[in-house]
Amino acid sequence: MYLIGIDVGGMSIKGGIVDSESGKILVQHAIPTTAKYTKEYSISEDIAKVIDYILNEANMKIDDIVGIGIGQPGSIDSERGVIRYSNNIALENVPVVDELHKKYNLPIYISNDANCAALGEYVFGAGRGYKDIVFITLGTGVGSGIIIDGKLFEGRAGAGAEAGHMVIVVDGEKCNCGSRGCWETYASATALIRQTKAAMELPENKDSLMHQIAAEEGKVSGKTAFVAAKKGDKGGQAVVDQYIKYIGVGLLNMANIFRPDAILIGGGISKEKDYLTNPLQKMIDTESYGGKFNPRVVVKTASLQNDAGILGAAALVMKE
Ligand code: BGC
Repeated sequence: MYLIGIDVGGMSIKGGIVDSESGKILVQHAIPTTAKYTKEYSISEDIAKVIDYILNEANMKIDDIVGIGIGQPGSIDSERGVIRYSNNIALENVPVVDELHKKYNLPIYISNDANCAALGEYVFGAGRGYKDIVFITLGTGVGSGIIIDGKLFEGRAGAGAEAGHMVIVVDGEKCNCGSRGCWETYASATALIRQTKAAMELPENKDSLMHQIAAEEGKVSGKTAFVAAKKGDKGGQAVVDQYIKYIGVGLLNMANIFRPDAILIGGGISKEKDYLTNPLQKMIDTESYGGKFNPRVVVKTASLQNDAGILGAAALVMKE
């Protein structure tokens, strides 16, 4: 069976043709996400561009495909196929599935991007074999997908499971969702870049390696502080330590509320692997409720990495 998985992100819209047997992506393609979609220029148009491109590349027709799955940030009404609200890519009430059905006559499903990625990890990746997992993605925003007893928990009308917007600092940083102190404003890659830039401005960090690393890369990125810290740079280490603490606080909350078998970390920052997960595992082991008296929550890097979104969206079709 061939499926199409579409992964909508803050930076790009990726799509791939997936073989459901092997879980392999046969061809994939990405285009940049436009800053502002309108009624006249709907996000569906860009999704269709990706679909047409990959079909053409694979020498296939839409009739060769069993279904299309879309992973989209925000509150998604999966039943009606509508993006109800999304903060990082500003969208409100977009009937994506109806719009795409005008062009493609096959089953089309949509769910939150992190929910899809959690499903993908559960079916094809690091979540295989567990019953309860919490998947967290650290990227432009912070997304979460919660699987309890093998089933995706989405909250009423798909508007729950938004751990990125749990408040971890009262009256904290302003979030683009309109609230303050959301976990995502401290633990996303976007937040790490902001924290790195702020640290680079401090007089004690004027000779920090972070400056050299950013100059070489041509920008401050989510890697700048990590690379510096690994080379023994004190300023970089301070940024990383603080950032990991912010992630850890949110994970502790998730561990205490859900006590899953495992918490999987995905998104760009998860490329730091053990360097990130070791201190987080230690935090969960020592600070989660009941400590060693309660079952251990394993913290692992998600395994599908860049493909998690596409495979997760394809897994959504398989689930249906
Ligand atoms: C959105 C989530 C999304 C996450 C990752 C957050 O800002 O609220 O719905 O899953 O970003 O894209």
